[in-house]
Amino acid sequence: MTTSEPLIVLEHVNKHFGPLHVLQDVSLTVSRGEVVVVIGPSGSGKSTLCRAINRLEPIDGGTITFDGRPLPAEGKALARLRSEVGMVFQSFNLFAHKTILQNVMLGPVKVRKEKPDSVRERAMSLLDRVGIASQADKYPAQLSGGQQQRVAIARALAMQPKALLFDEPTSALDPEMVGEVLDVMTSLAKDGMTMVVVTHEMGFARHAADRVVFMADGQLVEESTPVDFFENPKSERARDFLSKILTH
Ligand SMILES: Nc1ncnc2c1ncn2[C@@H]1O[C@H](COP(=O)(O)OP(=O)(O)OP(=O)(O)O)[C@@H](O)[C@H]1O
Ligand SMILES: [Mg+2]
Repeated sequence: MTTSEPLIVLEHVNKHFGPLHVLQDVSLTVSRGEVVVVIGPSGSGKSTLCRAINRLEPIDGGTITFDGRPLPAEGKALARLRSEVGMVFQSFNLFAHKTILQNVMLGPVKVRKEKPDSVRERAMSLLDRVGIASQADKYPAQLSGGQQQRVAIARALAMQPKALLFDEPTSALDPEMVGEVLDVMTSLAKDGMTMVVVTHEMGFARHAADRVVFMADGQLVEESTPVDFFENPKSERARDFLSKILTH
């Protein structure tokens, strides 16, 4: 499904938090339809990288373009960018006092001013797609963590994004619920969604990623196909990281 058409392009991106240089000259191109898995030790800058792509974090140097345009800094253009780049976090951040269906409908109706009737239909079909249509009228607290994360994915999809960013979407889940969320993500990947996924789920990286990017200390140390990365990591840091996580 991967095309050669660039959708997300980072060139020489730098970002500091005070004295801490969290993104160091990071260049990365994600093509339309591509699935890029980002892995690396804690504190290496993975979340900051994701947040920079939808401009939740401004950068100090370099450029990021999305779909051919530099990231807008503010206003309507920024709101449009945020709706084109969906984000799914470790914590699901659903509105507790709204039903599942209302949570999924909220963005299109409130932000995009779409008609509730057509949004409802789309929201229901998305809930069906993630396997929770029967729970549409429940509240988030009545669902399991895995179900809530699938709602969060449906909510992101409701904005009809051009790309989805996932920041450790399964890290907060009980082990038995990880699979159901990864299955939804795998099916999105197969359908051609452009995805950047920060995860420690090496099985997902192996079978769903087109490319694995390894970050350490704010640098993009290595990028390769999953097979190459897992069978033949080039850098000492990647080998060290893999030896630690693969022996658990
Ligand atoms: N708002 C902030 N202010 C100051 N420092 C920050 C801020 N956000 C992140 N950092 C620091 O920047 C570095 C990179 O953080 P980031 O969250 O991007 O790492 P990560 O790779 O996602 O780590 P983890 O695997 O633990 O989620 C860390 O040292 C972190 O402490
Ligand atoms: Mg993180």
